[in-house]
Amino acid sequence: MVHVAILGFGTVGSGVAEVLTTNGGLIDGRVNNQLRLKYIVDVRDFPDSPYADLFVKDFAVLENDPELDIVVETIGGATIALDFTTRALKAGKSVVTSNKELVATHGYELLQLAREHGCSYLFEASVGGGIPILRPLSSCLAANELEQVTGILNGTTNYILTRMIRAGLTFDQALAEAQANGYAEKDPTADVDGHDACRKICILAALAFGRHVYPDQVPTQGIRGVTLEDVAYADSVGYKIKLLGRALRQPEGKVCAFVAPHLVPGENPLAGVEDVFNAIAVTGNAIGDVMFYGRGAGKLPTASAVVADVIDIAKDLKKDRHNGWEEGSPDLVVSADSLVSAWYVRAQVSADQARKQCGEIHLLARSGAPAGEAAFLTAPMTQPEIQDKLAGLDVGSLFRVLA
Ligand code: HSE
Repeated sequence: MVHVAILGFGTVGSGVAEVLTTNGGLIDGRVNNQLRLKYIVDVRDFPDSPYADLFVKDFAVLENDPELDIVVETIGGATIALDFTTRALKAGKSVVTSNKELVATHGYELLQLAREHGCSYLFEASVGGGIPILRPLSSCLAANELEQVTGILNGTTNYILTRMIRAGLTFDQALAEAQANGYAEKDPTADVDGHDACRKICILAALAFGRHVYPDQVPTQGIRGVTLEDVAYADSVGYKIKLLGRALRQPEGKVCAFVAPHLVPGENPLAGVEDVFNAIAVTGNAIGDVMFYGRGAGKLPTASAVVADVIDIAKDLKKDRHNGWEEGSPDLVVSADSLVSAWYVRAQVSADQARKQCGEIHLLARSGAPAGEAAFLTAPMTQPEIQDKLAGLDVGSLFRVLA
């Protein structure tokens, strides 16, 4: 028998219990053993839960139970979750998590700890919710030198942008809907300001390029600055505004990584990724382009990825999974300043003045645009170049265009 505990009975934790119960027979068959949920740790009381007799409040019970094999951490954050994960691994229990903050900030040390203690630390659900992406990246694409990873990595912001585009909702109305649907983080600033996408691109970059990339090394811009005006201008030429996390291989083993809203041309498959769906496009030197698509948030899709990791470990509790990366360094991540893109600009400027300052431009139109407002696409150039050209102008929005 393989014994499992869940830490945190929130959206994902309760989803994990539900999947383990609903699909119990099928899972046991796949593991070729009996998987038993033994504990749920939560500070709250759930007297009416069907799992009421599994609840404990003291983590030491798990730590000291020699029967317990796998701990599922769905607490979130990097404080209590770090303490419990560290203690579980030191006690030789494998840990499975959906906690991108913890993996992005402490993944290297936790992976080391797992190896030292003969157990595993798996986190497929930390990126892309239910989408299989981390295992394919490290296993199925292992023959490639990976060049870049570009992803719509946050379901909440993609939902908000989709509702702004399709239903003309304001940012606040769309955010309220996302929260009502259980997509947003407890504190939605992590979603809307791009921190959640930043943590996910750090994990993807570490797996793709082999060294730990820390969130504070990654310039991050969220979607608060995206307006309905920008959405309308982009739409007029068949482009969609998407929050992208990007990681690009650079010379001498360096990495360029950042998170920012982009205009995505309609013919790019990322433009068609709507609502809470995520997509991750990967380019490798043998495979070329490949894209992973699916539900990036939500109770059962995320639980699906968590339970898949549990099954993987349960099949072979002592297997050394080599699923790690090397230590990071302060000079690993280089700025995106040298990255050449076309740019979308919305500013208080006449078309003539915009041409004078920015050279060849493609003017955009929207109904109801006030006099003196111009929006346009530029020729490809670097960020310092476009900023130099826009000097002195009252710029409302400046976003890269994805090539
Ligand atoms: N809040 C996250 C999102 C949940 O919206 O994508 C999944 O990580």
